[in-house]
Amino acid sequence: MSQFPQSRPRRLRNTAAMRRLVAETRIDPAGLILPMFVREGITEPRPIASMPGVVQHTRDSLRRAAAEAVDAGVGGLMLFGVPAQRDAVGSAAVRQDGILNLGIADLIAEVGEQTVVMSDGCLDEFTDHGHCGVLDDRGRVDNDATLEVYADMAIAQADAGAHIIGPSGMMDGQIGVMREALDAARHQDVSLMAYTAKYASALYGPFREAVDSQLTGDRRTYQQDPGNAREALRELELDVNEGADIVMVKPASTYLDVIRDVREATHLPVAAYQVSGEYAMIEAAAANGWIERDRMIDEQLTAITRAGASMILTYYAVEVARRSR
Ligand code: PBG
Repeated sequence: MSQFPQSRPRRLRNTAAMRRLVAETRIDPAGLILPMFVREGITEPRPIASMPGVVQHTRDSLRRAAAEAVDAGVGGLMLFGVPAQRDAVGSAAVRQDGILNLGIADLIAEVGEQTVVMSDGCLDEFTDHGHCGVLDDRGRVDNDATLEVYADMAIAQADAGAHIIGPSGMMDGQIGVMREALDAARHQDVSLMAYTAKYASALYGPFREAVDSQLTGDRRTYQQDPGNAREALRELELDVNEGADIVMVKPASTYLDVIRDVREATHLPVAAYQVSGEYAMIEAAAANGWIERDRMIDEQLTAITRAGASMILTYYAVEVARRSR
């Protein structure tokens, strides 16, 4: 008779209770952040076709949805704005009555004591060309001219009450410039969540519908090339030195190795963004009956957590928070 098996890992898989007890990775609602969209000039929430279940909110429905999310137990909210008018420099982004700044103030009034309110520190929703920055006379994204606008944008969002600003534009120096501007404006308590490794990904497609993006072309001159993992660590070093409080990897499920690398290289909290295309792929396959939706959601969020993210921005935040009660 064989003396094997000498060890029986299956013992710990025998019952649901046992599996639950020995689980190495748990999804904690407190680490889930719900991205939300608020759109200027609409009277009813508008569905986003490529993201079933996600809407562009009115200011009123935004407040209601935020209260529900906080009730469900999510850890934070990340707000994006969709303005009625756009221009070349994205001026609505810095105006106190710009839709994003109004939306931040609404969230602070509604749930500001109970959760962490975050806002998108980027120009692409506000520019008529859809790029994340302003353009030079040859039509290229002008890094340093963009930084000047980002500084004003950071102050406007902090004035509106944002607890954390997340600059998603991938301009060089954006964390440093925002930190400096915030400190000079006595907003030293406002935190910065750095989009440290944001890749030029096909997974942002549905988001472009969500914010009614005017972009033609791509963002490859500022977002990272998908094959470059070491470069993420270079970006990390810069963000840490410039004063980032939290660092993020985006998208999530196709960059698990990068999440792990970043986790191992820093003591800062690490976030990951499960983006619109990751959501849309699950929804589309599930709608066809090709995958089990809820299991897929859990598996993806588990993988992202296992890779090293302690916070996840996900359009599933509320649903998963409710389910894990
Ligand atoms: C740009 C921005 C994007 C997303 C968040 N901020 C889109 C882009 O870079 O093209 C994508 C989020 C998602 O796809 O869910 N400000």
